[in-house]
Amino acid sequence: MGNCSCRSNINNQLESGEEHETQDQLSTTEKRNRPSSKKPVLPTLPIPGFNEDENLRYPLYDNDDIISHSQLLHNIHRYIWQNNFSSPVDDLLRKGRARVLEIGCGDGIWTIDLAKEFTWSRFTGVDAHQKFDQRVEHTNVTFLKADVLDGLPFDPDTFDLVFMRFLSFSEKQWLEKVANEIIRVCKPGGWVEIMDCTNQYAPKGPATSQLEMDYLRSTNKITVIRREEKRITLGKGGGKVGPLLVQNIITTWEQSKKSLSELMGVSEKEFDNLTRTFQKEINDLKTSTRYIRIYGQKVIE
Ligand SMILES: C[S@@+](CC[C@H](N)C(=O)[O-])C[C@H]1O[C@@H](n2cnc3c(N)ncnc32)[C@H](O)[C@@H]1O
Repeated sequence: MGNCSCRSNINNQLESGEEHETQDQLSTTEKRNRPSSKKPVLPTLPIPGFNEDENLRYPLYDNDDIISHSQLLHNIHRYIWQNNFSSPVDDLLRKGRARVLEIGCGDGIWTIDLAKEFTWSRFTGVDAHQKFDQRVEHTNVTFLKADVLDGLPFDPDTFDLVFMRFLSFSEKQWLEKVANEIIRVCKPGGWVEIMDCTNQYAPKGPATSQLEMDYLRSTNKITVIRREEKRITLGKGGGKVGPLLVQNIITTWEQSKKSLSELMGVSEKEFDNLTRTFQKEINDLKTSTRYIRIYGQKVIE
Protein backbone atom coordinates (compact mmCIF):
# COMPACT_ATOMS: atom_id res chain seq x y z
CA MET A 1 0.00 0.00 0.00
CA GLY A 2 2.69 2.46 0.88
CA ASN A 3 6.13 3.27 -0.39
CA CYS A 4 8.06 4.19 2.73
CA SER A 5 9.46 2.21 5.64
CA CYS A 6 7.33 3.99 8.24
CA ARG A 7 4.14 2.85 6.50
CA SER A 8 4.67 -0.81 7.17
CA ASN A 9 5.39 -0.07 10.81
CA ILE A 10 2.14 1.83 11.17
CA ASN A 11 0.23 -0.83 9.23
CA ASN A 12 1.57 -3.59 11.45
CA GLN A 13 0.30 -1.74 14.47
CA LEU A 14 -3.08 -1.22 12.84
CA GLU A 15 -3.44 -4.85 11.89
CA SER A 16 -2.67 -5.97 15.43
CA GLY A 17 -6.02 -4.46 16.39
CA GLU A 18 -4.62 -2.93 19.57
CA GLU A 19 -5.05 0.58 20.87
CA HIS A 20 -2.25 2.88 19.86
CA GLU A 21 -0.88 6.22 20.86
CA THR A 22 -0.30 8.16 17.68
CA GLN A 23 2.69 9.85 19.21
CA ASP A 24 4.35 6.45 19.69
CA GLN A 25 3.51 5.43 16.17
CA LEU A 26 5.06 8.45 14.68
CA SER A 27 8.17 8.64 16.78
CA THR A 28 10.04 6.32 14.43
CA THR A 29 9.14 8.48 11.49
CA GLU A 30 10.22 11.79 12.89
CA LYS A 31 13.44 12.05 10.98
CA ARG A 32 13.35 15.44 9.38
CA ASN A 33 13.14 18.89 10.83
CA ARG A 34 12.78 21.80 8.50
CA PRO A 35 11.01 25.12 8.91
CA SER A 36 7.45 25.31 7.64
CA SER A 37 5.90 28.00 5.47
CA LYS A 38 2.47 26.38 5.81
CA LYS A 39 -0.31 28.54 7.23
CA PRO A 40 -3.24 26.55 8.52
CA VAL A 41 -6.44 28.48 9.01
CA LEU A 42 -6.84 27.31 12.60
CA PRO A 43 -4.39 29.04 14.90
CA THR A 44 -1.88 26.45 16.01
CA LEU A 45 0.29 26.15 19.06
CA PRO A 46 4.04 25.84 18.57
CA ILE A 47 4.70 22.14 18.15
CA PRO A 48 8.22 20.77 18.13
CA GLY A 49 9.07 18.94 14.91
CA PHE A 50 6.00 20.48 13.29
CA ASN A 51 6.79 19.45 9.76
CA GLU A 52 8.87 16.35 10.19
CA ASP A 53 6.45 13.97 8.62
CA GLU A 54 7.01 14.32 4.91
CA ASN A 55 8.00 10.66 4.63
CA LEU A 56 4.54 9.59 5.67
CA ARG A 57 1.99 8.57 3.08
CA TYR A 58 -0.34 11.14 4.63
CA PRO A 59 1.50 14.06 6.25
CA LEU A 60 -0.38 16.55 8.38
CA TYR A 61 -0.14 19.22 5.72
CA ASP A 62 -0.33 18.95 1.94
CA ASN A 63 1.11 21.33 -0.57
CA ASP A 64 -1.43 24.09 -0.08
CA ASP A 65 -0.23 27.10 1.85
CA ILE A 66 -3.62 27.77 3.37
CA ILE A 67 -6.02 25.01 4.21
CA SER A 68 -9.60 25.23 5.38
CA HIS A 69 -10.79 24.19 8.81
CA SER A 70 -12.45 21.04 7.48
CA GLN A 71 -9.37 20.19 5.42
CA LEU A 72 -7.18 20.50 8.51
CA LEU A 73 -9.50 18.24 10.51
CA HIS A 74 -9.53 15.74 7.65
CA ASN A 75 -5.73 15.86 7.52
CA ILE A 76 -5.53 15.27 11.28
CA HIS A 77 -7.64 12.11 11.02
CA ARG A 78 -5.80 10.89 7.96
CA TYR A 79 -2.52 11.50 9.80
CA ILE A 80 -3.69 9.64 12.91
CA TRP A 81 -4.71 6.56 10.92
CA GLN A 82 -2.27 6.94 8.04
CA ASN A 83 -5.10 5.95 5.75
CA ASN A 84 -8.56 7.17 4.81
CA PHE A 85 -10.38 3.91 5.51
CA SER A 86 -9.73 0.56 7.16
CA SER A 87 -11.77 -1.74 4.91
CA PRO A 88 -9.55 -3.91 2.70
CA VAL A 89 -10.52 -2.28 -0.60
CA ASP A 90 -7.33 -0.38 -1.41
CA ASP A 91 -6.38 -2.71 -4.29
CA LEU A 92 -9.92 -2.76 -5.65
CA LEU A 93 -10.10 1.04 -5.74
CA ARG A 94 -6.68 1.28 -7.32
CA LYS A 95 -7.60 -1.20 -10.06
CA GLY A 96 -10.53 1.02 -10.99
CA ARG A 97 -14.24 0.78 -11.72
CA ALA A 98 -15.02 0.44 -8.04
CA ARG A 99 -17.80 2.58 -6.61
CA VAL A 100 -17.64 4.34 -3.25
CA LEU A 101 -20.39 6.16 -1.37
CA GLU A 102 -19.88 8.56 1.51
CA ILE A 103 -23.01 9.29 3.54
CA GLY A 104 -23.11 12.70 5.28
CA CYS A 105 -20.11 13.89 3.32
CA GLY A 106 -20.27 17.54 4.50
CA ASP A 107 -18.17 19.60 2.11
CA GLY A 108 -16.93 16.37 0.57
CA ILE A 109 -13.32 16.51 1.68
CA TRP A 110 -12.96 12.75 2.31
CA THR A 111 -14.65 11.88 -0.99
CA ILE A 112 -12.51 14.33 -2.97
CA ASP A 113 -9.32 13.07 -1.33
CA LEU A 114 -10.13 9.50 -2.38
CA ALA A 115 -11.20 10.55 -5.87
CA LYS A 116 -7.80 12.20 -6.38
CA GLU A 117 -5.93 9.12 -5.21
CA PHE A 118 -8.02 6.44 -6.93
CA THR A 119 -8.63 8.15 -10.24
CA TRP A 120 -10.11 5.12 -12.00
CA SER A 121 -12.84 4.52 -9.45
CA ARG A 122 -16.06 6.49 -8.98
CA PHE A 123 -17.08 8.37 -5.87
CA THR A 124 -20.42 9.66 -4.67
CA GLY A 125 -20.99 11.90 -1.66
CA VAL A 126 -24.45 12.55 -0.24
CA ASP A 127 -25.46 15.01 2.43
CA ALA A 128 -28.85 16.01 3.75
CA HIS A 129 -27.87 19.67 3.87
CA GLN A 130 -25.89 20.07 0.66
CA LYS A 131 -22.72 21.69 1.98
CA PHE A 132 -20.40 20.22 -0.63
CA ASP A 133 -18.47 22.29 -3.07
CA GLN A 134 -20.34 22.13 -6.40
CA ARG A 135 -17.34 23.59 -8.24
CA VAL A 136 -15.19 20.55 -7.59
CA GLU A 137 -13.47 19.52 -10.78
CA HIS A 138 -13.06 15.79 -10.57
CA THR A 139 -14.82 13.79 -13.21
CA ASN A 140 -14.98 10.74 -10.96
CA VAL A 141 -16.97 12.54 -8.19
CA THR A 142 -20.70 13.16 -7.89
CA PHE A 143 -22.36 14.98 -5.02
CA LEU A 144 -26.07 14.66 -4.30
CA LYS A 145 -28.42 16.04 -1.73
CA ALA A 146 -29.97 13.06 0.06
CA ASP A 147 -31.03 12.16 3.57
CA VAL A 148 -30.21 8.60 4.58
CA LEU A 149 -33.29 8.62 6.82
CA ASP A 150 -35.52 9.16 3.78
CA GLY A 151 -33.80 6.40 1.80
CA LEU A 152 -30.89 6.83 -0.58
CA PRO A 153 -31.48 7.39 -4.32
CA PHE A 154 -29.44 4.37 -5.42
CA ASP A 155 -30.25 0.89 -6.63
CA PRO A 156 -29.56 -2.02 -4.31
CA ASP A 157 -26.06 -3.58 -4.48
CA THR A 158 -24.40 -0.51 -6.04
CA PHE A 159 -21.29 0.34 -4.00
CA ASP A 160 -18.08 -1.52 -3.14
CA LEU A 161 -17.54 0.67 -0.06
CA VAL A 162 -20.11 2.66 1.90
CA PHE A 163 -18.42 5.01 4.35
CA MET A 164 -19.84 7.26 7.06
CA ARG A 165 -17.88 9.49 9.43
CA PHE A 166 -19.02 11.63 12.39
CA LEU A 167 -22.79 11.18 12.03
CA SER A 168 -24.95 10.13 14.91
CA PHE A 169 -28.44 8.68 14.96
CA SER A 170 -30.83 7.45 17.61
CA GLU A 171 -31.14 3.73 18.24
CA LYS A 172 -34.57 3.79 16.55
CA GLN A 173 -33.15 5.52 13.46
CA TRP A 174 -30.29 3.03 13.30
CA LEU A 175 -32.52 0.01 13.59
CA GLU A 176 -35.38 1.18 11.40
CA LYS A 177 -33.51 3.08 8.69
CA VAL A 178 -29.77 3.61 8.68
CA ALA A 179 -28.37 0.09 9.03
CA ASN A 180 -30.75 -1.33 6.42
CA GLU A 181 -30.14 1.51 3.98
CA ILE A 182 -26.34 1.34 4.25
CA ILE A 183 -26.43 -2.39 3.62
CA ARG A 184 -29.03 -2.21 0.86
CA VAL A 185 -26.85 0.01 -1.35
CA CYS A 186 -23.67 -1.99 -0.65
CA LYS A 187 -22.79 -4.76 -3.11
CA PRO A 188 -22.66 -8.35 -1.79
CA GLY A 189 -19.01 -8.78 -0.82
CA GLY A 190 -18.66 -4.99 -0.51
CA TRP A 191 -17.72 -3.21 2.73
CA VAL A 192 -19.46 -0.79 5.05
CA GLU A 193 -17.42 1.36 7.41
CA ILE A 194 -18.33 3.76 10.18
CA MET A 195 -15.91 6.07 11.95
CA ASP A 196 -16.56 8.15 15.03
CA CYS A 197 -15.06 9.73 18.07
CA THR A 198 -16.08 8.37 21.45
CA ASN A 199 -16.27 11.90 22.92
CA GLN A 200 -19.35 12.62 20.85
CA TYR A 201 -20.96 9.62 22.45
CA ALA A 202 -19.82 10.45 25.98
CA PRO A 203 -23.32 10.43 27.53
CA LYS A 204 -24.02 7.01 26.06
CA GLY A 205 -20.71 5.48 27.14
CA PRO A 206 -18.60 2.83 25.43
CA ALA A 207 -21.58 0.51 24.94
CA THR A 208 -22.58 2.66 21.98
CA SER A 209 -19.77 1.36 19.83
CA GLN A 210 -20.83 -2.13 20.72
CA LEU A 211 -24.37 -1.23 19.79
CA GLU A 212 -23.27 0.06 16.44
CA MET A 213 -21.85 -3.31 15.62
CA ASP A 214 -25.07 -4.88 16.81
CA TYR A 215 -27.14 -2.64 14.57
CA LEU A 216 -25.20 -3.78 11.54
CA ARG A 217 -25.19 -7.38 12.68
CA SER A 218 -28.90 -7.28 13.41
CA THR A 219 -29.60 -7.01 9.69
CA ASN A 220 -28.08 -10.50 9.24
CA LYS A 221 -26.49 -9.13 6.10
CA ILE A 222 -23.07 -8.30 7.40
CA THR A 223 -20.14 -10.50 8.29
CA VAL A 224 -16.45 -10.17 9.26
CA ILE A 225 -17.12 -7.20 11.53
CA ARG A 226 -13.88 -5.57 12.64
CA ARG A 227 -13.08 -2.70 14.94
CA GLU A 228 -10.02 -0.48 15.12
CA GLU A 229 -9.28 2.19 17.62
CA LYS A 230 -6.80 5.03 18.05
CA ARG A 231 -6.39 6.72 21.38
CA ILE A 232 -5.03 10.23 21.11
CA THR A 233 -3.84 12.30 24.04
CA LEU A 234 -5.33 15.76 23.82
CA GLY A 235 -3.11 18.79 24.37
CA LYS A 236 0.63 18.88 24.86
CA GLY A 237 1.00 15.13 25.43
CA GLY A 238 -0.51 14.32 22.04
CA GLY A 239 2.40 14.96 19.68
CA LYS A 240 1.55 17.04 16.66
CA VAL A 241 -2.19 16.46 16.65
CA GLY A 242 -3.00 16.77 20.37
CA PRO A 243 -2.72 20.60 20.46
CA LEU A 244 -4.54 20.92 17.13
CA LEU A 245 -7.47 18.88 18.37
CA VAL A 246 -7.71 21.01 21.52
CA GLN A 247 -7.54 24.15 19.41
CA ASN A 248 -10.39 22.80 17.33
CA ILE A 249 -12.51 22.10 20.43
CA ILE A 250 -11.82 25.60 21.79
CA THR A 251 -12.58 27.24 18.43
CA THR A 252 -15.88 25.35 18.20
CA TRP A 253 -16.83 26.38 21.74
CA GLU A 254 -15.75 29.95 21.03
CA GLN A 255 -18.10 30.09 18.05
CA SER A 256 -21.08 29.05 20.20
CA LYS A 257 -19.96 30.88 23.35
CA LYS A 258 -23.10 32.98 23.69
CA SER A 259 -25.58 30.11 23.50
CA LEU A 260 -23.37 27.66 25.41
CA SER A 261 -22.80 30.04 28.33
CA GLU A 262 -26.54 30.80 28.48
CA LEU A 263 -27.29 27.09 28.49
CA MET A 264 -24.77 26.50 31.25
CA GLY A 265 -26.01 29.48 33.27
CA VAL A 266 -22.57 31.17 33.39
CA SER A 267 -21.37 34.52 32.13
CA GLU A 268 -19.19 34.66 29.00
CA LYS A 269 -16.25 35.65 31.20
CA GLU A 270 -16.81 32.58 33.39
CA PHE A 271 -17.07 30.52 30.22
CA ASP A 272 -13.65 31.83 29.08
CA ASN A 273 -12.19 30.92 32.47
CA LEU A 274 -13.65 27.43 32.17
CA THR A 275 -12.11 26.87 28.74
CA ARG A 276 -8.73 28.05 30.06
CA THR A 277 -9.03 25.64 33.00
CA PHE A 278 -10.07 22.89 30.58
CA GLN A 279 -6.85 23.37 28.62
CA LYS A 280 -4.75 23.18 31.79
CA GLU A 281 -6.70 20.17 33.06
CA ILE A 282 -6.30 18.08 29.95
CA ASN A 283 -2.57 18.81 29.89
CA ASP A 284 -2.20 17.90 33.58
CA LEU A 285 -4.38 14.80 33.38
CA LYS A 286 -3.21 13.75 29.90
CA THR A 287 -6.86 13.39 28.87
CA SER A 288 -7.32 11.29 25.79
CA THR A 289 -9.97 10.77 23.15
CA ARG A 290 -10.62 7.70 21.07
CA TYR A 291 -11.40 7.38 17.40
CA ILE A 292 -13.09 4.19 16.34
CA ARG A 293 -13.69 2.57 13.00
CA ILE A 294 -16.08 -0.32 12.63
CA TYR A 295 -16.27 -2.11 9.33
CA GLY A 296 -17.80 -5.24 7.93
CA GLN A 297 -18.44 -7.10 4.71
CA LYS A 298 -21.88 -7.63 3.23
CA VAL A 299 -22.69 -11.31 2.95
CA ILE A 300 -22.76 -12.91 -0.48
CA GLU A 301 -26.05 -14.82 -0.69
C1 LIG B 1 -20.09 16.33 11.48
S1 LIG B 1 -20.44 16.46 9.80
C2 LIG B 1 -19.26 15.31 9.12
C3 LIG B 1 -18.96 15.58 7.68
C4 LIG B 1 -18.04 14.56 7.03
N1 LIG B 1 -18.53 13.22 7.19
C5 LIG B 1 -16.62 14.70 7.54
O1 LIG B 1 -16.14 13.80 8.22
O2 LIG B 1 -15.96 15.71 7.23
C6 LIG B 1 -21.97 15.55 9.66
C7 LIG B 1 -22.61 15.70 8.30
O3 LIG B 1 -23.65 14.74 8.18
C8 LIG B 1 -24.75 15.34 7.52
N2 LIG B 1 -25.96 14.60 7.90
C9 LIG B 1 -26.56 14.57 9.12
N3 LIG B 1 -27.64 13.77 9.10
C10 LIG B 1 -27.73 13.28 7.84
C11 LIG B 1 -28.66 12.40 7.21
N4 LIG B 1 -29.71 11.90 7.87
N5 LIG B 1 -28.46 12.08 5.90
C12 LIG B 1 -27.42 12.61 5.23
N6 LIG B 1 -26.51 13.47 5.77
C13 LIG B 1 -26.68 13.81 7.07
C14 LIG B 1 -24.72 16.79 8.01
O4 LIG B 1 -25.40 17.66 7.12
C15 LIG B 1 -23.23 17.06 8.08
O5 LIG B 1 -22.75 17.60 6.88
